Amino acid sequence: MKNVCIVGYGAIGPIHAAAINSTDSARLYAVCETDADKRQRCVDAYSVVAYSDFDEMLADEKIDSIHICTPHHLHFEMAKKALAAGKIVVCEKPITMTEGEFSSLIEIDVERRLCAVFQNRCNPSIEELKAIVDSGRLGKIKTAKATVTWCRDASYYAKDEWRGKWATEGGGVLINQSIHTLDYFSYLCGDIKSVRAQMINFAIPEIEVEDTMSACLQLDCGARGIFFATNAYGDNPAPTFEIVFEKGIARYEQGKLFVNGEVVAEDSKPKTGKMYWGRGHEMLIRKFYDFGEYFTLDDVAMTMNTVFAMYKSANNSGVEIII
Ligand SMILES: NC(=O)c1ccc[n+]([C@@H]2O[C@H](COP(=O)([O-])OP(=O)(O)OC[C@H]3O[C@@H](n4cnc5c(N)ncnc54)[C@H](O)[C@@H]3O)[C@@H](O)[C@H]2O)c1
Repeated sequence: MKNVCIVGYGAIGPIHAAAINSTDSARLYAVCETDADKRQRCVDAYSVVAYSDFDEMLADEKIDSIHICTPHHLHFEMAKKALAAGKIVVCEKPITMTEGEFSSLIEIDVERRLCAVFQNRCNPSIEELKAIVDSGRLGKIKTAKATVTWCRDASYYAKDEWRGKWATEGGGVLINQSIHTLDYFSYLCGDIKSVRAQMINFAIPEIEVEDTMSACLQLDCGARGIFFATNAYGDNPAPTFEIVFEKGIARYEQGKLFVNGEVVAEDSKPKTGKMYWGRGHEMLIRKFYDFGEYFTLDDVAMTMNTVFAMYKSANNSGVEIII
């Protein structure tokens, strides 16, 4: 039985807690949270050991595994220290905030003890679409597109100090909200050779970062992909994703996978948390602890490198080569 500590018990920490305790091979043993009220909330719910200091928590030899659920700018240092202390690490997206940090972490994590949280890969519709792509039964990919149109207004960004700033969030709609959609885009369509991106802040003047990102992706398979994400919409519909194959069209909409118009898979509703987070956390965390199946830094490198390339392209007004 692995003893787990959650670091950061804000919006997503409680989702990890429930998922950890739904496994057969791990249990929530501790929480590390700087905010006293949030720390207490976890203690009240799970009767766990409480820490407010990360280094002190790391020295607890009873802890086998730590879940990093803190703001983006803290991920790299926490992951680096936890790996050095011999812990298993489950790290929320985006794994790191910069390209340099990500390549350092790949070198540091020699034993591949870091499990990356890109939980949308565990949605039944995405698993089914992955199987379809890998089987080759619909032929080659001709083109693909993804759209994320969500609403994050000034009040969302005012909630937490780290949001909406380059130094602490590392970007806006791309690195935070739509990174999951970009992740399954690259997971399903394969390597991305290059990208040309544009970003803008249309509607949220209170923040420094982009509220909208659009990009044209040249895929290694020869096809072209289109990606559009915004936080400036007035609602939060499920993202849409489409792959046009030689022999059919697959569409992922409203949590359902349609192939040539027929529903072939459907995501289940989450027991806790927001609908668009899905039940992926529970599935990803159970697969990791109970079956040893997980996505390593290598498995998510294409996603992370595409995020960094999109920001570079948007800043330099040019094409960025990824591979
Ligand atoms: N996979 C998903 O679908 C998903 C969904 C939401 C958030 N996230 C990710 O989870 C992470 C956290 O997001 P959130 O929305 O829960 O943020 P949040 O601000 O609600 O929570 C972060 C928590 O970390 C705590 N914290 C800050 N510094 C700390 C420190 N040094 N030691 C211990 N605790 C500290 C804060 O007090 C806060 O409670 C981010 O990386 C975010 O992108 C992922």
